[in-house]
Amino acid sequence: MQAAELKKLYIDFFVSKGHLEIPGAPLIPENDPTVLFTTAGMHPLVPFLLGERHPAGTRLVNCQKCIRTGDIDSVGDSTHLTFFEMLGNWSLGDYWKRDAIVWSYEFLTSRQWLGFDPQRLHVTLFEGDDNVPPDEESADVWRELGIPDDRIYFLGRKDNWWGPAGRTGPCGPDTEMFVDTGAEPCGENCRPGCGCGKYFEIWNDVFMEYNKLDENRYESLKSKNIDTGMGVERTVAMLQGAGSIYEIPVFRDVFGVVRKLAGIGGSPDGGTLASMRVISDHVRTTVHVLGENLGVVPSNLGQGYVLRRLIRLAVRHGRKLGIEEPFIHEVGRRVIESESEDYPELRENREHVLSELRREEERFNKTLRDGLREFEKMLPDLLSSSGSVVPGETAFRLYDTYGFPIEFTRDLAAEHDLEVDMDGYRKAFDRHRELSRKGADKTFDGGLADHSEQVRKLHTATHLLHQALREVLGEHVEQRGSNITPERLRFDFSHPRKMTGEEKARVEQLVNEIIDRDLPICCEEMSLKEALDRGAIGLFKDKYGDRVKVYNVGDFSCEICGGPHVERTGELGHFRIRSEKSSSRGIRRIKAVLE
Ligand code: ALA
Repeated sequence: MQAAELKKLYIDFFVSKGHLEIPGAPLIPENDPTVLFTTAGMHPLVPFLLGERHPAGTRLVNCQKCIRTGDIDSVGDSTHLTFFEMLGNWSLGDYWKRDAIVWSYEFLTSRQWLGFDPQRLHVTLFEGDDNVPPDEESADVWRELGIPDDRIYFLGRKDNWWGPAGRTGPCGPDTEMFVDTGAEPCGENCRPGCGCGKYFEIWNDVFMEYNKLDENRYESLKSKNIDTGMGVERTVAMLQGAGSIYEIPVFRDVFGVVRKLAGIGGSPDGGTLASMRVISDHVRTTVHVLGENLGVVPSNLGQGYVLRRLIRLAVRHGRKLGIEEPFIHEVGRRVIESESEDYPELRENREHVLSELRREEERFNKTLRDGLREFEKMLPDLLSSSGSVVPGETAFRLYDTYGFPIEFTRDLAAEHDLEVDMDGYRKAFDRHRELSRKGADKTFDGGLADHSEQVRKLHTATHLLHQALREVLGEHVEQRGSNITPERLRFDFSHPRKMTGEEKARVEQLVNEIIDRDLPICCEEMSLKEALDRGAIGLFKDKYGDRVKVYNVGDFSCEICGGPHVERTGELGHFRIRSEKSSSRGIRRIKAVLE
């Protein structure tokens, strides 16, 4: 079974259980300053998990593309990816543990659906702690379904507690489903979650009962929710009887390209295989982010920095395999060919994706040349004065000034029997990070949508800005990205030229006029068609399936959006554009504040 078939079966199954399919959200979260990427299907649903009514009802299902960079160092083993697809079903205060588990079991084992041998299934559950009891309720359901006690494991928070991704938000215990690959146990303590690769975690049912308020305080959620996530790549690998996630078709295609470029025949050794995996995973992730064309390109900040890091890591692994010529775009091209069917945006933005990949690789190659030259200049001093040690500050300067990776410095040092003072390097690094955090435009620390008063105001101001831009510049203006922190809004939109001073002044004036008119903001639910007939604008038009929420600001703006907003424009204060710059080709970026 291939990914496309699995996805269809999953959606069909949950539709047959009364769920409505909703589209996935972009990888770059809209209006959420606290996370860099969409990390799970629940992420775009946070307001609804916290109690807001979802226009599509209380049973939802979808497939969501996700990025998790927390696992980046595990990429190269048999189960981890930074980009993956996740199938999910949700109950928003509707069904609870029993139905969720019974349906998971039915979908996994029934011959009509996936048909896994029940003997291969192992499940884990929350063992309880001072605040929350052990999850006996779920264990009983698993036992009734025929899973014996020796395949039910009670584990702690690290394994069986979901979220919140950051400091606050909906969370709760979960039950995870693993498939035994049949491999030899890694030792006496081999078990699901031990990480050896014998047991593949393919699905997680989360029982969201709590809202985490701060480090130690929880409150019960108004309604209990189910949030589940099935990893598409892992499940396909298990259905195909493969021992690794990299044996599924998209990776087979990409591996073919890497093998050819590096001249690898036969079966690769462990290190070579790990490098092939890292290259394939990282390029695929990058292609999907660039493919959204939402204004994120390799840079030194935020999401752009993640792209930069992924591409550069892939280049480094390419070097390890002996690939010296620029090659990342060749790999990227193959990813686009393999995945455009499901993600047509990859094909639409193909040239943009490939040229960004090529450009970043060229920049990195220049960095490597410059760093190498600098190192060689320093070498005589290092050899004569340092007692075989490269000071941490020096290594950090190479990194900070030239972007020269520490591993390269270590390798070069080793060639001359020198060692890098890694402690000193780390200290210099931390010191620098602390400084840049203080001065940063914004920080990302993982977590949930910030719905503070100031973010709400800036969100409403974003709608006013969007409409004002359309009136001043023309109807071709479309939102291409939005990001709000408590300090400022950032809005990316399609427009081919720099705005003139006069245009900026007119936009500011228009927004401030609407603020002065103290217009009410009203929200209505309607069908997508009705919303479009009324002329509602909105980038992710189909975000909520057929039913959508439309926010009207008086008679000025009408936009499809999930909220939240303030009640009247008079609350906003004075609107000022702080900067207007190019974000990528054909896309401008405005940063603005409320004073
Ligand atoms: N949100 C849960 C996960 O990603 C389902 O595992």
